Amino acid sequence: MKVKKVCVLGAGAMGSGIAQVCATAGYEVWVRDIKQEFLDRGKAAIEKNLQKAVSKGKMTEEKAKEILSRIHFTLDMEEAVKDADLVIEAVPEIMDLKKQVFAEVQKYAKPECIFASNTSGLSITELGNATDRPEKFLGLHFFNPPPVMALVEVIKGEKTSDETIKFGVEFVKSLGKVPVVVKKDVAGFIVNRILVPYLVLAIDDVEKGVATKEEIDATMMYKYGFPMGPIELSDFVGLDILYHASQQWDIVPQSKLLEEKFKANELGMKTGKGFYDWSAGRPKIPQ
Ligand code: 3HC
Repeated sequence: MKVKKVCVLGAGAMGSGIAQVCATAGYEVWVRDIKQEFLDRGKAAIEKNLQKAVSKGKMTEEKAKEILSRIHFTLDMEEAVKDADLVIEAVPEIMDLKKQVFAEVQKYAKPECIFASNTSGLSITELGNATDRPEKFLGLHFFNPPPVMALVEVIKGEKTSDETIKFGVEFVKSLGKVPVVVKKDVAGFIVNRILVPYLVLAIDDVEKGVATKEEIDATMMYKYGFPMGPIELSDFVGLDILYHASQQWDIVPQSKLLEEKFKANELGMKTGKGFYDWSAGRPKIPQ
């Protein structure tokens, strides 16, 4: 199927990043969220990224404008979904919320439209079965920040057809990204099944006083060689995402400290404060 219009649901870090990637690849993109301030924030993040590329000489001003002109922001679900060939959902990691969103989407979607979820690890089978098209439903899991991270997991639910997986793989390639097919729909898929327990265990280490957050991050980043330490990465991906995972996936440990952060709305980079203060950008972790 030839894709012309992509609809992205949610203008947060993932939704706006995915929209930017799709528009950069030449697709017309409609981003839908429930509040104007969310749309404004998503648009500002895309503009900032594109401007950064322009100022580094990696993109012309005209190209940046052209990309931006392909991204349409709306509060109206019907406008966003109507005529879309592909819907990519990137709303908060709450199963019931995602089901509600797809129930609304299918009122306006054309029958051949493919539904994808960018869930971090909720069941693609369960989400797909809640729609009128489980065979046309798949996971397309991008990594944060979407414009930088090459990997996209393409996840097969129990009823996802082979054609839909083929479509997902080709679509991801058309974005210049690297698809990896996940054949079995387990919590967290390939990456987050390993990564999220690791992050929450690092938070547990802070809570237990095994080492300070700076020591843990310095160890994993400077001495072990990861690009970011686990506490900084937790803030970076969003403590809400980790908290929801700890509540909904059987493989993630529970953490009182994570719960406290979530309840205090200290969610990391997105709120300016999590384990670190992000108001002036990335925290400086001493060596
Ligand atoms: N959006 C867009 N571009 C960004 C960005 C952002 N938020 N942050 C950084 N970049 C770009 C920079 O502009 C720069 O681009 P350039 O190469 O064209 O100049 C490039 O990324 C490198 O950035 P910096 O030089 O500022 O800094 P770093 O070299 O430290 O890279 C990083 C930043 C790419 C974020 C790197 O620290 C990293 O790879 N961190 C780990 C990220 C990761 O593991 N992500 C996956 C999280 S798990 C997930 O998303 C799954 C979810 O379901 C939980």
